[in-house]
Amino acid sequence: MPNNDALLSILKSVPVIPVLTVNGAEDAVPLARTLVDGGLTVLEVTLRTDGALKAIEAIAHEVPDAVIGAGTVLTESQISEAMSAGATFLVSPGSTPKLSQAAALAKAPFLPGVATASEAMGMAEMGHHVLKFFPAEPAGGINYLKSLSAPLPHLTFCPTGGIDVVKAKSYLALSNVICVGGSWVTPAEALKSGDWARITQLARECASLR
Ligand code: 3PG
Repeated sequence: MPNNDALLSILKSVPVIPVLTVNGAEDAVPLARTLVDGGLTVLEVTLRTDGALKAIEAIAHEVPDAVIGAGTVLTESQISEAMSAGATFLVSPGSTPKLSQAAALAKAPFLPGVATASEAMGMAEMGHHVLKFFPAEPAGGINYLKSLSAPLPHLTFCPTGGIDVVKAKSYLALSNVICVGGSWVTPAEALKSGDWARITQLARECASLR
């Protein structure tokens, strides 16, 4: 069975989870430190680059106050790789029974992605009560997610995809939203120029949303 309680306790600790796509330890560590200093202690590093696992490993060792998750988990083998690197939770853009079972076997808190009521019901049948709503804005946004709360009151969501600080505030006001995720907290140009002051400011703004 999925470990909903472990996942909930991670997700409820922050209003916003920055979704990071980084090339390795060198970029990841100062960025993770900056975000944690700004009050965002839960981070998702997507497995979209060759250096993603190294980045997770480095953050796990060098930024002890960060709770680090692996994102874009698409295969069973990525579950064990991410956990071995130091990830303490896993996020996927989608939801398959195979991934759900493998995550449960690995005892990894797992946040599967859903975009429809049927997908959410499918994951609920497998014991998942906490879901990523992805891609949140293209899939229907705030009104869509609000509409799911009446028929599916037992489900809680972390919307991600196309969100900014203004939309984040509206999502967080919904009864079925525990936190939101997104990459807007770490703009590409700020990363490129090492503008940590800008990222600290954005992180503080997000951390004070709730
Ligand atoms: C993703 O998996 O890319 C995340 O959902 C981030 O989406 P965003 O870049 O639109 O915030």
